[in-house]
Amino acid sequence: MVDHASLSGKRVLLVIAGGIAAYKSLDLIRRLRERGVGVRAVLTEAGARFVTPLSVQALTEDTVYRDLWSLTDESEMGHIRLSREADLIVVAPATANLLARMAAGMADDLAATVLLATDKPVLVAPAMNVRMWEHPATQDNMARLERRGVRRVGPNEGVMACNEFGPGRMAEPMEIIDAIATHFADAAHKPQAHTPLSGKRALVTSGPTHEPIDPVRYIANRSSGKQGHAIAEALARLGAAVTLVSGPTRLPDPPGCAVVAIETAREMLAACEAALPVDIAVCAAAVADWRVAGTSDRKLKKDGGGPPSLSLTENPDILATLSQAGPRRPALVIGFAAETGDVVAYATAKRARKGCDWIVANDVSLGTTTFGGADNTVHVIRADGAEAWPTMGKDAVGARLAEAIAAHFHPPAP
Ligand code: C5P
Repeated sequence: MVDHASLSGKRVLLVIAGGIAAYKSLDLIRRLRERGVGVRAVLTEAGARFVTPLSVQALTEDTVYRDLWSLTDESEMGHIRLSREADLIVVAPATANLLARMAAGMADDLAATVLLATDKPVLVAPAMNVRMWEHPATQDNMARLERRGVRRVGPNEGVMACNEFGPGRMAEPMEIIDAIATHFADAAHKPQAHTPLSGKRALVTSGPTHEPIDPVRYIANRSSGKQGHAIAEALARLGAAVTLVSGPTRLPDPPGCAVVAIETAREMLAACEAALPVDIAVCAAAVADWRVAGTSDRKLKKDGGGPPSLSLTENPDILATLSQAGPRRPALVIGFAAETGDVVAYATAKRARKGCDWIVANDVSLGTTTFGGADNTVHVIRADGAEAWPTMGKDAVGARLAEAIAAHFHPPAP
């Protein structure tokens, strides 16, 4: 028995999408109101074919919000305010179509826009034909939503309106109310954070390295550290304990990360080894391939004898070192590849050469602004092939990579 005491005084925004189960949502409204819950409803166009706006309005004793473009709805209550004034958004029935639109981040009607604009917790009660529910597209969408923190109740197994048998029936109103009460009881006890990587340790390298020539001069590169820092921050946001080993950058330390500042490749390697063991290593630093052999501890002088000649020697390869099999190898090692042309082919070869699990590859040909810029266009290369990601901000690449890492450790159900 779930205690419903936590429900009184709560405000639920109920999104009713177009499914035969919508009739049960009328009962859901009634029972929520009996328990002291304020219910405001958004009805999709398809939803309005299954239940009448008048019934919903009468049961909620409130306006029914239906149209993104309605002057009256928007002037009385914009989509942002609709979600802001709720403690929880409940989608019941959640159709395959609405789940797909939520997973894709679409905002093509009022319901989808509210769901995209909200920062409130969301509970979905899926309802659809069994084949639609079992379709890999729906399963992927649901898994994606759950990874983002969306909660789910049902669907239940049983005979469906279409005479088929299997999972797809919307949970009963009392089960949905139990799930809502459980949510509020949980929320009262712990912060609602989406932390699929909690308990995991991550190491991220970022920025350039500075390789000294003498006490005042060094060899460096144009890496800004934006991408590596964004990845470290995104991993920390998902709950990982992150050590960020960074060369000199102008960036603030990302929140929630332990930052180790280094200058040279050898210092970076030592700091990485000190951070082991970790579950995840992401090498996003632009490490200098070479350093000056026999650096001078006194400033090189113009002494009329012509320019000094610098002899270079190879730096340790941190990514390859971390990728070496052994008891301390991180479970997932990710490298970066900056290429100029033939990005996927070169990066695929680099993945094999370095022995890492994934390579995030980008094109740094002249004309692209990856180095130092805010955006990045990457291909992610894994054992099973390459995936092209659209151009997006480096923060978004970091967030998406962190989600992909979380999915690697918690794969969606087959
Ligand atoms: O060989 P290349 O420099 O193109 O490889 C790039 C990848 O290897 C990046 O992930 C970079 O952080 C990593 N790397 C490294 N140590 C080096 C050189 C590169 O960790 N000395």
